[in-house]
Amino acid sequence: MDDQGLLLPPSSPGYGTNRKLLPIVLILLITACSGCTDVKRWLYEGFGRDEWQHPGEVILALHLKAGDAVADLGSGSGYFTFRLADAVGPAGKVYAVDIDPDMTEYVARRARELKYHNIEVITAKPDDPLLPKSGVDVIFSCITYHHLEDRTSYLFRLTQYLSPHGRLAIVDFNGEGWFTRLIGHWTPREVILQELQQAGYSLQQELTFLPNQVFLVFSH
Ligand SMILES: C[S@@+](CC[C@H](N)C(=O)[O-])C[C@H]1O[C@@H](n2cnc3c(N)ncnc32)[C@H](O)[C@@H]1O
Repeated sequence: MDDQGLLLPPSSPGYGTNRKLLPIVLILLITACSGCTDVKRWLYEGFGRDEWQHPGEVILALHLKAGDAVADLGSGSGYFTFRLADAVGPAGKVYAVDIDPDMTEYVARRARELKYHNIEVITAKPDDPLLPKSGVDVIFSCITYHHLEDRTSYLFRLTQYLSPHGRLAIVDFNGEGWFTRLIGHWTPREVILQELQQAGYSLQQELTFLPNQVFLVFSH
């Protein structure tokens, strides 16, 4: 994967000078270890992520029902995949979609080990998530939006994978933390709103409890 996403905590008052060296260390580490599943997994899941990602509240905010079909678009190491799978239950389905085969293989292995029979991985194409045409109830995408290329066409394409009442939920850094600004892994709220509107989506809900992140839910 040549465009790595780093799930580091957004800017917080407790950050000291030493912390400012962290990006350099990490960039060196990634460069040295590109292709290393463990490093990617650590970057996606580490750094006290639960404290700023509030995964339980995110899942609750999605109002999933038992039996729902959900896509975790840009699932990475499955930080949300397994939580989504718990929320939809054994009758539901979670498609863990990622372009990085290291990550889809890792999630598939972990799902087998933990006996999550409701998780299916999809190694996607950069311009197509390759979801089943039957459609899903929710496409959830966390800290992946900024990776998507030619987003207007991509978002159009996504609509064919949504069921008639399907929703698209996007979480991304909003650029307010120094670190995300430094590495450029973020998307301004207004850009997301504009692009989704261009692709024919309507904003259904905006959640504001995630620090330095946007959390927007759209219907089509
Ligand atoms: C920063 S990680 C986030 C992982 C996960 N969503 C999380 O919250 O831990 C971004 C992920 O998006 C994936 N990605 C990038 N472009 C993608 C695309 N066009 N389709 C699917 N996944 C993509 C990357 O391979 C990476 O695993």
